[in-house]
Amino acid sequence: MKRVGIIGTGSYLPEKVLSNFDLEKILDTSDEWITTRTGIRERRLARADEAASDLAKVAGERALMDAGIAPEEVELIVMATITPDTHCPAGANWLEAKLGAVNAVSFDVTAACTGFIFALSVAEQYIKTGIYRNALIVASEIMTRTLDWTDRETCILWGDGAGAAVITEVEDGRGILSTHIHSDGAGGDTLLMPGGGSKTTPISYESVDKKLHTLNMIGANQSFKVAVKRFAEACEEALYHNDLTLDDIKVIIPHQANLRILQGVAKRLNVSMDKVYVNIDRYGNISSATVPIALDEAARDGTIQPGDLVLLAAFGGGLTWGSALIRW
Ligand code: COA
Repeated sequence: MKRVGIIGTGSYLPEKVLSNFDLEKILDTSDEWITTRTGIRERRLARADEAASDLAKVAGERALMDAGIAPEEVELIVMATITPDTHCPAGANWLEAKLGAVNAVSFDVTAACTGFIFALSVAEQYIKTGIYRNALIVASEIMTRTLDWTDRETCILWGDGAGAAVITEVEDGRGILSTHIHSDGAGGDTLLMPGGGSKTTPISYESVDKKLHTLNMIGANQSFKVAVKRFAEACEEALYHNDLTLDDIKVIIPHQANLRILQGVAKRLNVSMDKVYVNIDRYGNISSATVPIALDEAARDGTIQPGDLVLLAAFGGGLTWGSALIRW
């Protein structure tokens, strides 16, 4: 089996900032409530003419430039998204065309907030087994298009953005040490977008009136507790599998859903928050895109140096959860 590693990262955040103070003007909420309960201060909002593949294109181009790979050299594109431009074709197909990746095959992976780790795990298998020489993995979400802006418990949490990574065969001593992915379909109702699929089509006045086409977070409190548990389990599984402890890890890059979830995970793992990468204050929850955006920032701001062990972990709708342990 070949050793596979990340050789380039990139990200893109839309310019428009929507702060908690902006939300105060349209909702019965306050900056104080949102900051205290979630750690979020602001989030980004995609332009009306931007779709998920547009955000993905910029993030993908940046990752390819970082890796020194031209679009036409890309062999595989896996896009993680729950907000594709269209259900058919896949978001990845639009992205392939926009990038000019004329020699690539492309498809989407749907695993909500764990999407990037699922996509990384899938793409890694193709490189490991020698079927493809490289892959571009992009997570891109326009979560703000899925929201009911009168549901103050849900709409304050989410934002838009994209992150990307390029993987290929690397020399021994670095690269992806493990990926672990999990799902529990019985928990599917927790984070649900009920409409738009075969269950509710054709879309009707009734389905719109019932708000079936917006993100539904039944039992947000419950998912909070499950998230803490599954996040911690995902980290422990990666460490156990590689015979490592948290002392060996330079930084944990978790999905950014709620600062209090991350604090709960740190407490459960008995690790300092200094070891947990946090940028939720600036971007909110961008579903699958939070992990690669944080990874790109950590790679560029010097948090991660060559040789460091980096632990990616995520939890999300599905339910899904997983980890990736990487020697940078
Ligand atoms: N502004 C002001 N008040 C709000 C509010 C808002 N945006 N949203 C809810 N409230 C109110 C509630 O109505 C409730 O009022 P009440 O006590 O009069 O009934 C009160 O604040 C407390 O609500 P509660 O649900 O107990 O707050 P919380 O501390 O659990 O925080 C969430 C709510 C949604 C922030 C939190 O549960 C959460 O982040 N859950 C995790 C969801 C998640 O990210 N899952 C994983 C996805 S990957």
